[in-house]
Amino acid sequence: MEIVLSGIRPTGNLHLGNYFGALQNFIKMQQEHCCYFFIADLHSLTTHPKSADFHENVKNVLAEYLAAGLDPEVATIYIQSDVPEVSELYVLLNMLAYQGELERTTSFKDKVRKHSDNVNAGLLTYPVLMAADILIHRAAKVPVGKDQEQHLEMTRTFARRFNNLYGVEVFPEPTAFNFGNELVKIPGLDGSGKMGKSEGNGIFLVDDEKTVTKKIMHALTDSGPTAPNSPMPEPIRNIFTLLEVVSTPGMVAYFREKYNDCSIRYGDLKKQLAADTWKKIAPIHERIAEIKANNVYLRKVTQSGALKARESAQATLKEVKKAIGFRAF
Ligand code: TYM
Repeated sequence: MEIVLSGIRPTGNLHLGNYFGALQNFIKMQQEHCCYFFIADLHSLTTHPKSADFHENVKNVLAEYLAAGLDPEVATIYIQSDVPEVSELYVLLNMLAYQGELERTTSFKDKVRKHSDNVNAGLLTYPVLMAADILIHRAAKVPVGKDQEQHLEMTRTFARRFNNLYGVEVFPEPTAFNFGNELVKIPGLDGSGKMGKSEGNGIFLVDDEKTVTKKIMHALTDSGPTAPNSPMPEPIRNIFTLLEVVSTPGMVAYFREKYNDCSIRYGDLKKQLAADTWKKIAPIHERIAEIKANNVYLRKVTQSGALKARESAQATLKEVKKAIGFRAF
């Protein structure tokens, strides 16, 4: 059976980008495939979270992911640091990752530009740890958003390099997966770039109806089209991209037509977007607090997840170490 894996860094609440870019696809697959889902707490250490917040961050995303529909009865759900085999494979793969290619990674260059005060080695080797996450279970499909495409490409490179160097077929080459074929980038509300965790840019699954509506009504727009069929500037295109995700094709076509004949009123467009967004997230929103309060359940989920994940991880690591030449005396 095909192995499917996905993960998230616990660095804030879950937003629509996480949900529609990755999680939704994973949830659709969990019944038919052998699925692993994990919280990348080691990855989140690159930005030095306060130790008082670290556990709470993990708990938040875990509860939100369960509320969104991850089913621990069918998928293996675990915390990355509960599976030490991942860290061991990371060390081994680091020997096959070259300084030049790591320095050329877009996400690394981005971080260097934005946080020049904290360019640590964990950031540089971030794609290697991500490759270890994926290869430890020999996953074939990885449902992620467009922002992770390059990391997936690097994972394929490390897998191929390992197989070639040791003359084995231990690792398959995983591919990114989205049901709509194209990998999606969910835009933010501030006019440019992807939806992320920053203030004013994202809609979170923990946001209530009032907050969702307020955020969308404040999303950046302009004064409207001045000529029929004029090209859409980025902030408007972004509103339409969000509408495509949460509304019906008929509704999107209706507003497109209004844009093209210059009769559109952005207030109406945003009101529709707010109503349809809330319709999608309300059922998830309602479950979050209840799950978060149930520590016994969360412990059970993570303990049984870690057990299952370690079993699969140990089997892979055994083959990896044999191929490299580790032998017992
Ligand atoms: P992270 O934590 O930034 O995001 C988790 C998932 O959400 C997707 N995503 C988006 N998709 C579309 N539009 C957006 N605006 C958007 N924002 C986030 C991401 O593509 C991702 O799938 N490096 C990963 C975490 C990770 C991982 C892995 C993922 C570590 N190891 C192994 C898959 C497999 C990350 O930072 O995602």
